[in-house]
Amino acid sequence: MALLLEILLLGPLLLACWLLASSGRFGSHDGRQRPDGALSAPQRLGPYTLGSKLGEGAMGEVYRAWNSAVGAWHAVKLLPRDATPNDRRRFEKEARLGAQVRHPNTVSILEPARDGDGTCYYAMELLEGTSLQQLVEREGPQPPARVARILRQLSAALAEMHAQGLVHRDIKPDNVLLTGRGDNSGDGSGADVCKLIDFGLVEHVGALAERQPEGTLIGTPLYISPEAILAPETVGPRSDLYGLGAVGYFLLRGEPVFRGSSLIEVCCHHLHTVPEALPMAPGDAVAAELASIVLACLAKDPSERPASAAEVARRLARPSEVPSLPNRRATRVRPSLAPEAECRTAHDQRRIAA
Ligand SMILES: Nc1ncnc2c1ncn2[C@@H]1O[C@H](COP(=O)(O)OP(=O)(O)OP(=O)(O)O)[C@@H](O)[C@H]1O
Ligand SMILES: [Mg+2]
Repeated sequence: MALLLEILLLGPLLLACWLLASSGRFGSHDGRQRPDGALSAPQRLGPYTLGSKLGEGAMGEVYRAWNSAVGAWHAVKLLPRDATPNDRRRFEKEARLGAQVRHPNTVSILEPARDGDGTCYYAMELLEGTSLQQLVEREGPQPPARVARILRQLSAALAEMHAQGLVHRDIKPDNVLLTGRGDNSGDGSGADVCKLIDFGLVEHVGALAERQPEGTLIGTPLYISPEAILAPETVGPRSDLYGLGAVGYFLLRGEPVFRGSSLIEVCCHHLHTVPEALPMAPGDAVAAELASIVLACLAKDPSERPASAAEVARRLARPSEVPSLPNRRATRVRPSLAPEAECRTAHDQRRIAA
C-alpha cells in the first residue's frame, strides 16, 4: 500500500521526466544539435586541430585533438555553437571544478574552458581505452579480483573529490575509462588504470543543500541513488557510494542492479527493491567480502552505507586477496530487449543544473 501511495505521489514528477526523456535528454538541450543529430565541430580551436570523435554525451562531444603548442595529443570536449547561456555556464563550471580534482584515477583537465571561434571547449588528457560499459558489453561479468581493483581506484578518486567538498553525482560505467597503463600483475587485469571522467554534474555539497530545481531528476536513472530521487537536497558523498555500488554490481553480474520497463519502475526499484544476491562461489570468503561492500554501498538509507569512499578504498586495499570466481560464464548484455532499451535510452538522461 505504501508503495502504491508513493508511486501515486511520485507519478506526476516521474511521468513528466519520462515524457521529457522520451523526447530527448532532460534539461535545456533543445536546439543544440542539427536536425540530423550531428554537432558542427570546427576543425581548429585555439592551438588544437580536431581529429576523430572519441564520444559524445548530454553535454557535448569529445574529440582527439593535436595541440600544436606543445606537440601532443589531447582530448577536447566542446559545446556546440548554439549552446544556451545556461549550458555555457554549466560547461565552464564543469571545467573549473574538474580542474580542481587532482588524482591519478581522475582525468586531468588541462586548462579552463575557452572560447574558440564561438565554440566553448576545454582540453583534457587523452585517455586511450575502454569504458566499463563497453568492457561488460564485450566480455560479460568481470572476475572479483579485477572488480576489486577497479572499485578501489574509483573509490580513491571519489575520496579525493569528496575531501574537496565536491560530489560527482553521475557515477556510472560510461563515466569510468580503463586505460591499461598500469603495471601488469600477471593475471591480465593488473594493467587496468581506472579514470573517472565527466564532471558535468559535479557540485559543492553545500550548494546542493541550498538550492535544488523543483521536479527534476539529476543523475542517470540506472545508477541514481534513492535520495537523489526523493530528496535531491540531501545528496552527498554517500550518494556517489551508491553509484559506486551500482557500478560494482554491474561489473560482477554483467547487468545493472535494477531494470524496468519505464523510468518510474527503475526509480521504484532504487527506492524499495533489495538487490538480488551476487553470484558467489561457496566458501569464497574474500569474494563474499567484495560482494558485501558492493551491497552495503547499495543500502537505501545513506547512513547504512560505508562511512566514506576512503573507507571503501581501505577495505579494498589488498586486491590480491580477492580471488577470481571459478567457472564464471561470460554472458553478454543483451541490448535488444525492450525494457533494457528503454533504460539504455535513459542511461544518459539527466538534468543539468547551472
Ligand atoms: N579524456 C578523454 N579521453 C578519451 N575519451 C574521452 C575523454 N573524455 C570523454 N571521453 C569520451 O567521450 C564520452 C563523452 O564524454 P563525457 O562523459 O564527458 O560527456 P557527457 O556529455 O558529459 O556525457 P554523459 O552526459 O552522456 O555522461 C565519454 O563517454 C568517453 O567515451
Ligand atoms: Mg559521460
